[in-house]
Amino acid sequence: MTTDGSWRRTAQERGDAVTIAVDGEPVRACRGETVAAAMLAAGAAFERDRIGAPRAPLCNMGTCFECAATVDGRPLTRTCLVPAREGLIIETPGRL
Ligand code: FES
Repeated sequence: MTTDGSWRRTAQERGDAVTIAVDGEPVRACRGETVAAAMLAAGAAFERDRIGAPRAPLCNMGTCFECAATVDGRPLTRTCLVPAREGLIIETPGRL
């Protein structure tokens, strides 16, 4: 929270920079933000639907599974619930 009482985040309040790997590509994130947020900011692909249209996180609270990916070898992990930390390896089913 800022000193004026608002909830706007400032650069000073963000965590240290970390690098995660998404489908083998480095993606910068801030420690503590979710993997889904880092992937969205980087334009990384999420899952695709049956006709190949891209999907993206919808609820950001662990309910819809639209953000599911393999995280450090654990399949179907909801990336909106995983805090970014150095060295995480994300594999998406989104690449066609
Ligand atoms: S965005 Fe809905 S479960 Fe992650």
